[in-house]
Amino acid sequence: DDLYGASRKNSDGVEFGWAEERNILVRGMAKTTAPFTVATPLGKGLPAKGEPNPIFSPMDGTTKAGTVSFADKATAEKSMDVAQAGFERWSRRPVEERAEILAKVGDLLEENRDRLMTILSIEAGKCLPDGIAEIREAVDFCRYYAQEARTQFGDGRLMPGPTGEENRYRHRGRGVFVCISPWNFPLAIFLGQISAALLAGNAVVAKPAEQTPLIAFETAKLLYEAGVPEDVFLLLPGDGEVGAALTAHPKVAGVAFTGSTETAWAINRTLAMKRGPIVPLIAETGGINAMLVDATALPEQVCDDVMMSAFRSAGQRCSALRLLYVQEDVADTLLAMLEGAAKELELGDPRLPSTDIGPVIDDEAQANIQAHIDEMQESQTLRFAGKMPVGHFSNGSWIAPHIIELNKAEALTREVFGPVLHVVRYKAKDIDKVLDQIAATGYGLTLGVHSRIDATVKKVVDRLSVGNVYVNRNTIGAVVGTQPFGGSGLSGTGPKAGGPAYLTRFALEQVVSINT
Ligand code: NAD
Ligand code: ALA
Repeated sequence: DDLYGASRKNSDGVEFGWAEERNILVRGMAKTTAPFTVATPLGKGLPAKGEPNPIFSPMDGTTKAGTVSFADKATAEKSMDVAQAGFERWSRRPVEERAEILAKVGDLLEENRDRLMTILSIEAGKCLPDGIAEIREAVDFCRYYAQEARTQFGDGRLMPGPTGEENRYRHRGRGVFVCISPWNFPLAIFLGQISAALLAGNAVVAKPAEQTPLIAFETAKLLYEAGVPEDVFLLLPGDGEVGAALTAHPKVAGVAFTGSTETAWAINRTLAMKRGPIVPLIAETGGINAMLVDATALPEQVCDDVMMSAFRSAGQRCSALRLLYVQEDVADTLLAMLEGAAKELELGDPRLPSTDIGPVIDDEAQANIQAHIDEMQESQTLRFAGKMPVGHFSNGSWIAPHIIELNKAEALTREVFGPVLHVVRYKAKDIDKVLDQIAATGYGLTLGVHSRIDATVKKVVDRLSVGNVYVNRNTIGAVVGTQPFGGSGLSGTGPKAGGPAYLTRFALEQVVSINT
């Protein structure tokens, strides 16, 4: 009766409005100082040494976050062989043992919260509320999937059948799952994939994003501390080439990928070219996420929700709002409010409670987003450009929040992964055209609607195949077990992370029929 986790509780947050709670966090974080660690490949028999590359914080370009030795192709090959051997034993362990170990990882994350927070801030530029939200999500993934594994996987399910025959439907691991994750949720998504794959009975070779190996390394150590064997989980810090080598390996039994649509296509091609078992791909990718605001919406609430959806995490969330459609009757008023609110956003040291927006992930991302802004300025209307940080932080990878008014929605042709909000006006009579435009992008990750007309809300929700639709609220921060997350079309294959169907896609279904 607890299939959907009705009795489950999510992990605790921090009340940032309370000075006392805030200060406990800030003081705790101050005890951890960079450089944190030397990240290397981890796992039974893997070479731990390689050429050490320094990692500098995107907040100032000079604070050394740590050092990483990237894996090479030979290490990637070796890790698959080691994991294949580890799989045989791990898959035979009772699901309860696997669940206990992964639930323990959740506890260890909470115990190490302040250290993980500091690493997230310095290596990935995460502000305090974003870092806390990320750690909570990671904890929740571990506990939620552990609970789902116990409920769904246990001894399997007896199916109805004729007298004298027992039919048991059950799940088992597939083999070695390759988990490839992005830098924007370098803890939560990294661990979400791994925990699900392990709980389903697979061994895992994980390749974190090249920008964020340190938080991955720290988390990997917690997995071992909780009891995951070193031949069952292996960590390969590395770039896309290492990811490509892993997905091309003949022993890969499944791939869980989160990142750009381009990379998902590349992985899909690699898997399709293999002569051998057909390998399942779970891909969660990007979006050109839209929000519709009509003339009946509450302006103050819209303003708040748009600020959060477009600019939280410096717009570096796959769920972030990219294109705001505003009914023309209220557009001038709303734009003035948005510009006023954006002016209040503070950029700066991500470890300070007063900071709203941290840096973007690196100089390459900065250049890419800036090129988009420059190009847009030539043909569209720049409504707002925020102030860049000064002094020490001016050397970091920063993009101030921007609001750009488009003369037509089609002017935005790709996902721009930063704090840039595009706004376009629409006439009430054209709402069907707007919905067609959104559908025509081919993406389907998040969608927002602000309206107090039920028929409008229903029309929008029913018309678009978008994975997560948010009505009269912001469009980010899906909660594990409450808002299972993931999109369709160019935005991904499903199943939804943090939802009841996620684990089963990592597992093999089997039916054993016994003539008794
Ligand atoms: P990316 O595609 O550049 O990289 C993601 C991962 O893939 C990295 O670990 C990278 O090293 C690896 N990789 C690159 N080329 C590869 C190849 N050929 N074979 C195998 N692996 C390869 O994406 P990113 O810039 O790290 O992340 C941002 C993107 O992720 C955005 O598009 C964002 O929308 C998306 N995202 C989606 C979700 C979701 O749940 N839908 C969540 C977070 C981020
Ligand atoms: N799950 C993350 C969010 O909803 C991506 O913002």
